[in-house]
Amino acid sequence: MERPVIQGSEGRLGVLLPGMGAVATTFIAGVEAVRQGHAKPIGSLTQMNTIRLGKRTEGRSPLIKDFAPLAGLDQLVFGGWDPIPDDAFDSAVNAGVLDRTHLDPIEEFLRDIKPMPAVFDVAYVKKLNGPNKKEASTKRELAEALRADIRRFRVENDCDRMVMIWCGSTEIFLRPGPTHQTLESFEKAMEENDASIAPSMLYAYAALMEGVPYANGAPNLSGDIPALESLAVERGLPIAGKDFKTGQTLMKTILAPGLKARMLGLDGWFSTNILGNRDGEVLDDPESFKTKEESKLGVLEHILQPKLYPELYGDMYHKVRINYYPPRGDNKEGWDNLDIFGWLGYPMQIKVDFLCRDSILAAPIVLDLALFIDLAARSGMSGIQEWLSFYFKSPQTPEGLYPEHDLFIQHKKLKNTLRWMMGEDLITHLGVDYPGQEIS
Ligand SMILES: NC(=O)c1ccc[n+]([C@@H]2O[C@H](COP(=O)([O-])OP(=O)(O)OC[C@H]3O[C@@H](n4cnc5c(N)ncnc54)[C@H](O)[C@@H]3O)[C@@H](O)[C@H]2O)c1
Repeated sequence: MERPVIQGSEGRLGVLLPGMGAVATTFIAGVEAVRQGHAKPIGSLTQMNTIRLGKRTEGRSPLIKDFAPLAGLDQLVFGGWDPIPDDAFDSAVNAGVLDRTHLDPIEEFLRDIKPMPAVFDVAYVKKLNGPNKKEASTKRELAEALRADIRRFRVENDCDRMVMIWCGSTEIFLRPGPTHQTLESFEKAMEENDASIAPSMLYAYAALMEGVPYANGAPNLSGDIPALESLAVERGLPIAGKDFKTGQTLMKTILAPGLKARMLGLDGWFSTNILGNRDGEVLDDPESFKTKEESKLGVLEHILQPKLYPELYGDMYHKVRINYYPPRGDNKEGWDNLDIFGWLGYPMQIKVDFLCRDSILAAPIVLDLALFIDLAARSGMSGIQEWLSFYFKSPQTPEGLYPEHDLFIQHKKLKNTLRWMMGEDLITHLGVDYPGQEIS
């Protein structure tokens, strides 16, 4: 495939966030704190990672942000929707992720970011509700109202380009069905208020119709349906999803490739979590949990390939539990117990106890996705962006392809995609062409 022509990154980039809770406000406040020089963007590849170019002997390793023409942090403008009317300051205080020492100096900035009335339906997120909602007689009208919001935001904030990243709650579990297959069936279902059309799909539809790339940080289907995938391709827009890869699943996709690389067997992997934030409360509803569970369970199966390695992984037992436990707030604890086996089948155990902070891990992902998906759009890359799988628990893939979950393959793929976009050689790590390694 020919390398893309990349349009310039100048101008203001609007970042639209359906859902202005813990993740969204930690992201916004973090970007502002970094812009004001109060903090460092730790965990963000676009801000801190380098990329090796050419051979190891060339010594070329620029920062990704100096290599690829990404928008700078100063170019970002934020907006969003939420049924809960709190501005970004109150919402951040309520989320309890960042300390007042980080929030107070940027209070005025955060107060100015007020959520637009949301398209919200308690039938899809059962554990919360709020008054800041749009009213209309059909889902189609609601989608049109979102489109009008996007257009207004663009003008009022003088945006040259925009991206939308879903940071809303996890909706109930839905399977792709007949209404999700084509744009025609999708639009008809919106008009008929069909139950298969969830609010997150209306945001994705509105974004794509307004020429805005879309990424989904939650596990619900949203843009991951054929109708919206083909709309993205048709409009020349990138999309990506689903479900930010943060705490326990991040660890899983770090550890499992290592076990497999060493051909160590796995009898079972038991994962449990306690968390007490609003997300935890939403996931306390069995229907929202089911969506999350599906997203978390796929990982091991794809990394370990039990069909190829039946003696090692054929009987593995994988269980994931999430328990809502208010005292912990956003500071989740994830325990993992791995029953593994080695040489001659001798058993061993690994225990992982990750005392993490969910939104601290998620915020840099939102930033990277916003900047990379904007780069993809300016490069004419449309449809599913598999090179961004690195950021997702349940990567969206084109029909017929299994998702790549191994964090290290995902990382390589991301960097090789950047090299390819910028006309640099891909790095294969073959290494036979260094002096002293020639083949005679
Ligand atoms: N924090 C993490 O590490 C992490 C990792 C992976 C995925 N996620 C997902 O990201 C999402 C956000 O997480 P969070 O911790 O910020 O949760 P949160 O509950 O703090 O924030 C979600 C916000 O979305 C709002 N919302 C719900 N439905 C909406 C709609 N239709 N339109 C607009 N707003 C809506 C809620 O009112 C809430 O304020 C969740 O779906 C979560 O599962 C989070």
